[in-house]
Amino acid sequence: MRKKIIAGNWKMNVKPSETAALVKGIAEAVKDCPDVEIVCCTPAIDVPAAVAAAAGTPIGVGAENCHWKESGAYTGEISTGMLLDAGAKYVIIGHSERRQYFGETDETVNLRARAAIAAGLTAIVCVGETLEERDAGKLNEVIVRQMEIGLKDVSAADCAKLVIAYEPVWAIGTGRTATPDQAQEVHALIRATLAKLVGADTAETVRIQYGGSMKPGNAAELLAKKDIDGGLIGGAALKAADFAGIIAAAQSK
Ligand code: PGA
Repeated sequence: MRKKIIAGNWKMNVKPSETAALVKGIAEAVKDCPDVEIVCCTPAIDVPAAVAAAAGTPIGVGAENCHWKESGAYTGEISTGMLLDAGAKYVIIGHSERRQYFGETDETVNLRARAAIAAGLTAIVCVGETLEERDAGKLNEVIVRQMEIGLKDVSAADCAKLVIAYEPVWAIGTGRTATPDQAQEVHALIRATLAKLVGADTAETVRIQYGGSMKPGNAAELLAKKDIDGGLIGGAALKAADFAGIIAAAQSK
């Protein structure tokens, strides 16, 4: 049984001074959800406040990016060691917004993912196609390429610290969710690709999250699908009640 994992991706929202209230609001609302792994991935500058507010609650804290070098002349970057030192346990890697606006490639996703896993962080590695790619019939090709390059040299043992997030770019922040069947089809492809990369037994243990306009009203039917093991939540992670509603849907699966 794969434990469901619901992670918030706060993106560039929520100030350090606003962080404790949101984390505490979520903690208050999810007391009866012991079967769900709950994560808040916050802007790096919010991590210390989120870690402090999450102490004594089941909420784990993560960041939204990390560099692959441990230290050095990389102005503006944050290392895995810095994140761990601040109390983070997770990090999102290769979100489509980073691919789209900040020059992230499958190769840099691979460097970041391997560094995060080697450091002991759980890497939430994002994959997903644009609408143009889907319409051009390139869905499978894009997902397989993102996985083969993004997860190159990630071993079966490393998969204990790996979560994959399938986020169709056309569903992010648009209110347009993939249907449960559309999502399941790609999740099955992701698991089959993982099986080729790390073996079928290990592939069965890796959680695959869906992300893209997931909310309390659609979470249950998505999470009911065989290969959908959680969610990576943007907009609905910014309100404690909405995020808690998705976690409750995961708990009842
Ligand atoms: P959304 O974002 O839930 O606002 O669509 C998801 C994500 O980008 O991780």
